[in-house]
Amino acid sequence: TTLYGIFGDPVRHSRSPLMMNRAFLECGINAAYVAFHVKPEGLKDAVNSIRALGFRGVNVTIPHKVEVMQYLDEIDEGARIIGAVNTIVNDNGKLTGFNTDGIGYVRSLQEETGIRLEGKRVLMLGAGGASRGVAYAFAKAGVSRITIANRTQDKAIQLASSIDAFAQSVGIGMDNEELDRIIEEADVIVNTTSLGMHPHVSELPLVSELINNNHVVSDLIYNPRITRFLKEAEARGAVIHGGLGMLIYQGAYGFEYWTGTPAPTAIMRQVVEQSLE
Ligand code: ATR
Repeated sequence: TTLYGIFGDPVRHSRSPLMMNRAFLECGINAAYVAFHVKPEGLKDAVNSIRALGFRGVNVTIPHKVEVMQYLDEIDEGARIIGAVNTIVNDNGKLTGFNTDGIGYVRSLQEETGIRLEGKRVLMLGAGGASRGVAYAFAKAGVSRITIANRTQDKAIQLASSIDAFAQSVGIGMDNEELDRIIEEADVIVNTTSLGMHPHVSELPLVSELINNNHVVSDLIYNPRITRFLKEAEARGAVIHGGLGMLIYQGAYGFEYWTGTPAPTAIMRQVVEQSLE
C-alpha cells in the first residue's frame, strides 16, 4: 500500500481523503490517503516523517503552505513565485514542493466553461493568499492582460509585479477611476476575495452593473456553491463558474504528479458534491 496524506490545522473538514481515496480506488491503485492534524510546532517532524515512513505524497493546507517550504529539498518554479506549497512529491526521500491550486483553478475554469484563455483579458478582484496561485496560472495560460484590483492597492501592485514576466499585469485599487472601463474590456472577471463567503452571503466584491453576456464571471468561493456575485452575473447574461472545481483539480494535479495516471475527475467531483449536500 502506498501512503498519502494531508497536513492541516484544522484538517477534519477536509474533503481530500474522501476524494483521493475514491480516485485511487477508481484507478485500481493500492493506496491510502489519511488526514493528519499537524500543529505549527509539529510541522518539521511531520515533514521528516514523510521520508521516514515512505509516503509518496502529501497535500499541505492551512496554515502550513508557506512554512512548509523551508523543510523541503526542492521547490518547483511556480510554487517559488507563488510563495506557497500545497503538494509534496517524495522521490526516494527527496521532497519537492509544488503549488497546484492556481493551475487547478485554471483547468477547472477552462473545462467547465469551455473558455480558451489564450489572449483573453482577465480582471481579478483581490490580492490575498488565494489570489497568488490563480494570478500565476492565468499568466502561464497565455492571457493577454491581467488587472488585479484590490482594496489595498499596494498588495495588488506587488502581486502584479511578481507575475509580470509571464503576462502583462497591472495592480490597481478598487476605487480606481479606470475600473469601469477595465470591467467592460474584460473577458473574465474572478473574485478571489472572501466577500460573499458563508455566513456573509449578501456581500459583493463588485457592483455588477457593467457585467453582461460577453463575460465569464468566476468566484473562488464554493460555500455557498453559487455566490450572490455569481447569481447577479448570471442574471445579467454572463457565463458563471464556481469555486468547487478548484478543489477537485488541485487534487487532480497532485494525483497525476504522484501516480502518473490521469485523475478520474468526474468521480472525484461526484463524491465531493455528495459530501457537501
Ligand atoms: P485568502 O488567503 O483567502 O486569499 P487573505 O490573504 O486574507 O485571504 O485575502 C483576502 C482578500 O480579500 C484580500 O484581497 C482582501 O483585501 P485587502 O488586501 O485590502 O485586505 C480582500 N478582502 C477581505 N475583506 C474585504 C472587504 N471587506 N472589502 C474588500 N476586500 C476585502
